[in-house]
Amino acid sequence: MAKPRHSRHPARKSSSSTMILTMLIMFTFLILILLALGILSIPSSNSGDLSSIKRNAVDRSDDDEGQGEQWVEVISWEPRAFIFHNFLSKEECEYLIELAKPHMEKSTVVDSETGKSKDSRVRTSSGTFLARGRDKTIRNIEKRIADFTFIPAEHGEGLQILHYEVGQKYEPHYDYFMDEFNTKNGGQRIATVLMYLSDVEEGGETVFPAAKGNISAVPWWNELSECGKGGLSVKPKMGDALLFWSMKPDAGLDPSSLHGGCPVIRGNKWSSTKWMRVNEYKV
Ligand SMILES: *[C@@H]1O[C@H](CO)[C@@H](O)[C@H](O)[C@H]1NC(C)=O
Repeated sequence: MAKPRHSRHPARKSSSSTMILTMLIMFTFLILILLALGILSIPSSNSGDLSSIKRNAVDRSDDDEGQGEQWVEVISWEPRAFIFHNFLSKEECEYLIELAKPHMEKSTVVDSETGKSKDSRVRTSSGTFLARGRDKTIRNIEKRIADFTFIPAEHGEGLQILHYEVGQKYEPHYDYFMDEFNTKNGGQRIATVLMYLSDVEEGGETVFPAAKGNISAVPWWNELSECGKGGLSVKPKMGDALLFWSMKPDAGLDPSSLHGGCPVIRGNKWSSTKWMRVNEYKV
């Protein structure tokens, strides 16, 4: 009596388990298809790493026209300094140089006694200022600087374009002011973005002689000039931008932001500087 029941049961069980198995396989395929289409994603192990988030954001947002990979490199925390690789396109670099060329004048430094500009042997380059927001290309660059630094474009001084020929340099100095005169408009300088508009064959590095840490650990150590080996150095590369902060997060001045431009040994150095203030800088 019990036998027929017994023989019928396994048959029903096997058909229902076949169905479950089929459904499981179909479900697995569905998940695989969704994963392949990118509709689903598995959280990656390095999702807590800020640099990868920044990298993804830059990769996605920029209209990259074959201008090289854009990524952010932390080079130092004392001072806080970062390289934005391929920040400017070649066309933007050439545009800024052509725009500035007819107006280049011998560079001056600020006299800490009077707050006025003066000629100097510590700074032997020539340069000119381009008014903030003067055309579409410059507004684009200024918007990009604001996006990368989180400092509004209105806090920026006009772009300064600088040209260093062989032997020309800028001795180590601070970008922040020691006088009352220069901080009336906009307050103290909080950060600087230095953009390299050309490659330099030899020399011309930006050097931070007071940087903390192992200065010889940079991968480009063997390519640096004697002056460049005097501190943490960044080699000029067309399109790269160097961001460093003259003020600490507690709003105190950061003496480790001391920096200079090493003498150019071979080639020509063109660069562009954006100084940013704590408050709006009125033009
Ligand atoms: C600094 O870095 C270099 C290159 O990585 C290494 O050879 C050297 O031992 C380091 N020096 C110190 C003091 O850590």
